[in-house]
Amino acid sequence: MPPHFTINCDIPLLRINTKLLQRRAAWLMRQCKVADHDVSILLVDDEEISWLNSHYREKLGPTNVLSFPLTSENQNDTFLSSLPLKELGDIIISVETALSEASQFNISLHDRLTWLITHGMLHLLGYDHERSEKEALAMWDLENKLINQLHNSRSNQMTHLAINVDHVATVRNARGVTEPDPVAAAAICELAGAAGIVVHLREDRRHINDRDVRLLRETIKTRMNLEMGANKEIIEIALNLKPDMVTLVPEKRQELTTEGGLNVAGQKKKLAKTIDKMEKAGIPVSLFIDPEAKQVKAAHAIGATYVELHTGRYCDATNDDEREKEYQFIASAAEEAYQMGLRVNAGHGLDYQSTSRIAALDTIEELSIGHAIIARAVFVGLDQAVREMKRIVRDASMMFG
Ligand code: PXP
Repeated sequence: MPPHFTINCDIPLLRINTKLLQRRAAWLMRQCKVADHDVSILLVDDEEISWLNSHYREKLGPTNVLSFPLTSENQNDTFLSSLPLKELGDIIISVETALSEASQFNISLHDRLTWLITHGMLHLLGYDHERSEKEALAMWDLENKLINQLHNSRSNQMTHLAINVDHVATVRNARGVTEPDPVAAAAICELAGAAGIVVHLREDRRHINDRDVRLLRETIKTRMNLEMGANKEIIEIALNLKPDMVTLVPEKRQELTTEGGLNVAGQKKKLAKTIDKMEKAGIPVSLFIDPEAKQVKAAHAIGATYVELHTGRYCDATNDDEREKEYQFIASAAEEAYQMGLRVNAGHGLDYQSTSRIAALDTIEELSIGHAIIARAVFVGLDQAVREMKRIVRDASMMFG
């Protein structure tokens, strides 16, 4: 549950990326083991914080941050304690002061606001630098540690867009000719900003073939993710090809596309053996699974590096309730996997409408999207189709620090 934000300040709202701050605050709350709590973060101006400072602390003038923990009396209130969320309290930050401190320390406004949120959060958790020098040092140490970790964490990075070019090969193969070439398509996708290229080498070679994967391995400049069934022939090819990663998927000859996730829990031994072979060759393995706790746990237990959460049911939902339910399955499976130390990707069926909500989940590192982009490319060109999707992913994960 993301922290609750209320924005109230005279500084133009466009200058404040609340989504980014929200991602960072959510990460901090996870690190501080209070992810199930709610916190209200209020951005105000100097005049308002001065008033609060004098009213509640009898101090004159503006300050950068104030925090008001919810008192223990309130926490014991039977009505409040019956609510599903626990309240930590309020953090109030003067954006005006944060802005001048940011320029004084030569850092971005968002980095300064993040520091102030961290400081306020630690106060809400009971840390206090005014009580003693020892406590001040402990608070300072933890604050620095959290900020350093945050800078290296997923919450500080944009969700990647990896593009599946199988359908370019599908069109080529429909005529049995050489055009359009998925190798050329991959290069165009990369030039338009894709962070990776995905191809599925199927047993029946219905789209991508052996020549494609060979050339793609030589020409991809970003990352090559080879999707594959865990069968002997394809495993041998992958071990020789050495893609940057493989994604194991269930593969049925009759299906139009990958229909469901792997039943990892039901075939742990076989999959663990494949993971082991790949890891010995230095190839990290992702398991394509339905967003279910049972599958996440099984993937973790057999040593996968990544899971890719199947977003098909979310994308195919026919009404809002169903979509919301499916979204929650994805969000909680992603959270669970992330907390276990798995890296989390997602994909299948994502399009120009459904992608942004998934891209906004800060536990998800990369989205694998094929059909919607290739379909749009028929009308607007591949370069534009990729750039449009990339903008959606970027805006949803809202990165500017
Ligand atoms: N992820 C996996 C594991 C897939 O099998 C596919 C389909 O090839 C995708 C993502 C991409 O799905 P779509 O083409 O619907 O975007």
